Amino acid sequence: MPRTAKKNQKAKPVKNVINKAVKKRKDKFSRLRGMKDVLFDEQKYWDLVVRKANDLSCFYGFKKIQTPILEKLELYERSTGKVTDIVSKEMYSFIDKSGEKIALRPEATPGLVRSYIEHGMFSLPQPVKMFWMGPLFRHEKPQSGRYRQHTQFDLEIFGEASPIADAQLILIAYNFFSELQINVQIHINSVGCKECRKTYLEKLIEFYKERGKRSKFCNDCKKRFATNPLRLLDCKEESCQEVREDAPQLVDYLCDDCRDHFIKVLEYLDELDIPYNLNSFLVRGLDYYTRTVFEVISLEEMEEKGVSQKRQISLGGGGRYDDLVEYMGGQPTPGCGFGIGLERVILKIKEKNIPIKGDGGDFIFLAQLGEQSRRKMFLLFEEMRRAGFNVRQAFTKDSLKAQLEEADRLGTKYTLILGQKELLDGTIIIRDMESGIQEVIDYKKIYTELNKRIEERKNIDK
Ligand code: HAM
Repeated sequence: MPRTAKKNQKAKPVKNVINKAVKKRKDKFSRLRGMKDVLFDEQKYWDLVVRKANDLSCFYGFKKIQTPILEKLELYERSTGKVTDIVSKEMYSFIDKSGEKIALRPEATPGLVRSYIEHGMFSLPQPVKMFWMGPLFRHEKPQSGRYRQHTQFDLEIFGEASPIADAQLILIAYNFFSELQINVQIHINSVGCKECRKTYLEKLIEFYKERGKRSKFCNDCKKRFATNPLRLLDCKEESCQEVREDAPQLVDYLCDDCRDHFIKVLEYLDELDIPYNLNSFLVRGLDYYTRTVFEVISLEEMEEKGVSQKRQISLGGGGRYDDLVEYMGGQPTPGCGFGIGLERVILKIKEKNIPIKGDGGDFIFLAQLGEQSRRKMFLLFEEMRRAGFNVRQAFTKDSLKAQLEEADRLGTKYTLILGQKELLDGTIIIRDMESGIQEVIDYKKIYTELNKRIEERKNIDK
């Protein structure tokens, strides 16, 4: 700044400067846009979906794998594709202190492919079935169910070319949702292989060139026309969707092998009684897919300009990528997989108020009155925990009312109450939290009395 300008500047009163500094220090931090804290009440939903993902993966023979959050930027540029939205618009990338171009993981598949190649998994008995779960980062415009950090449950099968692998993945995804009582539709299509897609793309470009003379496309589609014409088909803009209705369909251009593969996948799904919708516009937004692509869709009611409309929400998606491992420097290895967005799954469970089975149902709460009882219950709590009971307590609270309120909040079935009188008599009170009925029992018989009640309740629940 020139000296004269500095001289002419009015000095700020010291008081103002101090006030500003104090205010700045007091300003609260908030989380970044599009990021989310998972607070206490939401944990039970996470426990539920993570347990379901773990159980299904284990059952179908997938082994858990973890990969770093940071990878080389080039990994995604080459695999996901430089012109995809994820890489060209949404990726968090930077140059690190050693001058290397780095990216925060926007999707799991490229890192899993890298890991498969880097650790020579080609020499393991094939197929290699991977189960992965973790955070992903995409700098998207945040809205309900769309975050800049989200979590996916991912399954990948390497080294299996048979359509049974595609069908098994769709089956697992379908089971995941139906066992969580979430209604979904499976949309499925085939994008063919390099060879059949070549002929199809020529036809598609010809069609869009012709229609372009009469119709208006959105700005994204104008770019896609030159960079990734297949994606013209899944544009969400109304004007672009009108045009695509007349576009040639990829399934009509599949080569014999790709058609045969697709038919077999559909036959397996029919045999397994899995409903699906053939969707010839489904191409998925990632470059590596070959043959089968699928998406798990949930229909959502929403109001737009006062009119109730149905919106499609993608809860998961995946497909086959038979060329990717070789393209990324590995031996030719077929592959397929899917990713499910867990935040969206949890939103669905909450929205539909789906009851969570066993949610606090068998908790035993220990309540006490007076210091001596508190000491005794403190020890009993440890003893019961070791004996395998699902015990809870609020030893810092003195009032019995406050303790019972806490027991209620947790959804406890039985509360054991120890007061001065019981302490002297060698007894304890057992309270059924639903009916409010209290019985005095012999302190020594706590376990037998509790087990008896738990068994009786199990029989009623059956
Ligand atoms: P994707 O379709 O990009 O596929 O993401 C899969 C799922 O992640 C979506 O269906 C959605 O539920 C969830 N998801 C994506 N972006 C967000 C977001 N910003 N906020 C919340 N949820 C989101 C893939 O990522 C592929 N790697 C899947 C795959 C695995 N294909 C083969 N193997």
